[in-house]
Amino acid sequence: MSKDYLTDYGNLKTRAKALTEDVPYRISNLSNICSLIYEVMEKVNWAGFYLLSDGALILGPFQGKTACIRIPLGKGVCGTAALRDSIQLVPDVSLFPGHIACDPNSRSEIVIPIHENGNLFGVLDLDSAVVDRFGEEDRKGLSSFVEWLESALPAWDLAGFETR
Ligand code: SME
Repeated sequence: MSKDYLTDYGNLKTRAKALTEDVPYRISNLSNICSLIYEVMEKVNWAGFYLLSDGALILGPFQGKTACIRIPLGKGVCGTAALRDSIQLVPDVSLFPGHIACDPNSRSEIVIPIHENGNLFGVLDLDSAVVDRFGEEDRKGLSSFVEWLESALPAWDLAGFETR
């Protein structure tokens, strides 16, 4: 199934770079990036970030239905990716023990850990209502995308709401 929805990851990265160039606001850039992913990738019903804070994953910028706020490390697909520091590609979430069903329509999921200066920063989480939506091409493409994100992150320091 995953081969039915090929994403042009080169184009995605080019557009993300253009969107964030010279923008120092972290929340703004993460917001635009998940919006771009949501727009560009077919059959994705949720795209967003969970950010590590106080030892748990906390909901960050996202596109899609409302989601759970706090995911302990080791819980669900996101918490497993964060705890193991490894990409989780789940073709059928109903077969993943402990999957957290934010949107009951979600059937498959891919979660990529993100680092800042070598430390876990959070995860990028993509969901689909299609079983087996994500495949090896997505794993490769999203790994490379997140590598770029990690290289750009340190320059996005300002929260963006501190100028008052
Ligand atoms: N399904 C995820 C929770 C986050 S939502 O999908 C947005 C999980 O099991 O980690």
